[in-house]
Amino acid sequence: MSEAPIYPHADVEICPGGPMLVRNAGAIRDADGQVHRVDKPIVALCRCQKSARKPWCDGTHKLLPPEKRPQ
Ligand code: FES
Repeated sequence: MSEAPIYPHADVEICPGGPMLVRNAGAIRDADGQVHRVDKPIVALCRCQKSARKPWCDGTHKLLPPEKRPQ
């Protein structure tokens, strides 16, 4: 019987009004099921749905009025 593979776990931090920061992710699966490889130690994922580079945050959330930003 083989042992289950060990995967490093990712750490997630929510930025109020902004993106979700993910550390140590090998890949991100978006809402459509597409897998995006991650080659950086930390990435910012869009939570406002306005980024032109989804699933990545491109800073567009900063242009939104406070009531339209993700909580
Ligand atoms: S959270 Fe930054 S562009 Fe959406």
